[in-house]
Amino acid sequence: NPPTHIKNEQVKPFTNTDTKDWDLLRASIMKFKSSSLEVPLVINGERIYYNNSNRSVFAQSNPACHKQVLANVTQATELDVKDAIQAAKEAKSKWYQLPFYDRAAVFLKAADLISTKYRYDMLAATMLGQGKNVYQAEIDCITELSDFFRFNVKYAHDLYNLQPVQSAQGVWNKAEYRPLEGFIYAVSPFNFTAIAANLIGAPALMGNTVIWKPSQSAALSNYLLLTVLEEAGLPKGVINFVPGDPILVTDQLLASKEFGGLHFTGSTQVFKQLYGKIQTGVVNGLYRDYPRIVGETGGKNFHLIHKSANIPNAVFSTIRGAFEFQGQKCSATSRLYIPQSKSEEFFRDLIGTLQQQKVTPVNTAASPISGGDLHGFMGPVIHEQSYNKLIKVIEEAKTDPELEIIYGGQYDKGEGWFVGPTIIKCKDPKHKFMTTEFFGPILSVYEYPDNKFSETCDLIDQTSMYGLTGSVFAKDREAINLADEKLKFSCGNFYINDKCTGAVVAQQWFGGARMSGTDDKSGGPSILNRFVSIRNTKENF
Ligand code: SER
Repeated sequence: NPPTHIKNEQVKPFTNTDTKDWDLLRASIMKFKSSSLEVPLVINGERIYYNNSNRSVFAQSNPACHKQVLANVTQATELDVKDAIQAAKEAKSKWYQLPFYDRAAVFLKAADLISTKYRYDMLAATMLGQGKNVYQAEIDCITELSDFFRFNVKYAHDLYNLQPVQSAQGVWNKAEYRPLEGFIYAVSPFNFTAIAANLIGAPALMGNTVIWKPSQSAALSNYLLLTVLEEAGLPKGVINFVPGDPILVTDQLLASKEFGGLHFTGSTQVFKQLYGKIQTGVVNGLYRDYPRIVGETGGKNFHLIHKSANIPNAVFSTIRGAFEFQGQKCSATSRLYIPQSKSEEFFRDLIGTLQQQKVTPVNTAASPISGGDLHGFMGPVIHEQSYNKLIKVIEEAKTDPELEIIYGGQYDKGEGWFVGPTIIKCKDPKHKFMTTEFFGPILSVYEYPDNKFSETCDLIDQTSMYGLTGSVFAKDREAINLADEKLKFSCGNFYINDKCTGAVVAQQWFGGARMSGTDDKSGGPSILNRFVSIRNTKENF
């Protein structure tokens, strides 16, 4: 039967009275804190550890306490990558020939295991490894993750049932949704365990086999996810886990004749490089097919406030959009346009609220965000490189006469990689701070003349090299309609009177065009189409 019963997984609130939940969570946190986990390569189901081998190791540390090593991550060698290609090749035909419902069962069961038996381990691994509080971890590695697995099954089911609607008499036409030839290379980012799950899950569900290079900074939670999939029945070789040096792994995979497609989330810069390499490979006749390239990359996402806006809503949405998870989301609010007459009120409220927040190691003092409660909502940025990059931006803002830091600008690396929420006013709306993605808790602001709302929409569009997310805040319907029309191509996810982050699977299909990616929309049905190749059969009978 069609899986019509599928619904969004509910966030567990972790309120003060949920003592059993807290106890279970604390036990999982203590388990991962008390000793470093050995994270192996997994090729054809086989675990490969760096000990007693010539492989190197990467230490994944807790960003809130950088001395604490959470996982020793074995690094793939060239030979390992070669073995992964072979494993993906050998597992392929058995996997895609399984009835769809058998493949689907693996992901449905994994979703159930994650939302029950492994909930606390998944939360702890994501909180400690990626610097999230419990609420942020819930909406990532529990709800969004299991939603991806479950809704992809529903979408795939619908797709397989999409068949030619006409057949002449005596003829039977059918569409067959084959997997792509070759393997899919999945490259996942640190910031969402859920994104990693979809990067591997969507192609695998459609009968493809996958070689997965996780982010080194998320290896702990990502490895845990793989073990859950295995427990749910994932056959050997279907998803091969190869953390390692990105250039070594990528170059070798993209040089393989077996390469069939890329499923990527990460930086625009890296995606462009991979795109270029694949195109060169095509021109040089390296591959069997034109590989599918599905990518979701960066953003310079906007909040546009109209003078009719509900200011408290715009303030709360901006705090969450810009600073939640330290701004480390491709969708994070990173530029704001405010009418001159509203600026003082807006920033008085916003800064007043921010001043009550502490930047803390959220994964030790975990607390939820609900309603208007933002307590304990900011933690560390992911690692030293990110920290150094962000403080360079802050220092630059301190000396550039075109810029004014109106709030924040603090940072501290004593224990963890902490960068405080920072707001920077720009005199010139085309200044690079209004167009460059920082991927951290830094918000650039431009104050526009109240009577130039329409021109400001044009300005936003002209300065949108990226096209990921954006919001307009207004009560005036004409203003909303104008922004809606003028910003049609400036973002792939447009929000009205809401923050530009937090797309929910099956509710807001997520992704953007321009330099933000191929706009294939995770959490919606169209992405599954990208991992199949249709054979059409006509039979006379
Ligand atoms: N899907 C997330 C969001 O909408 C970002 O990856 O915020």
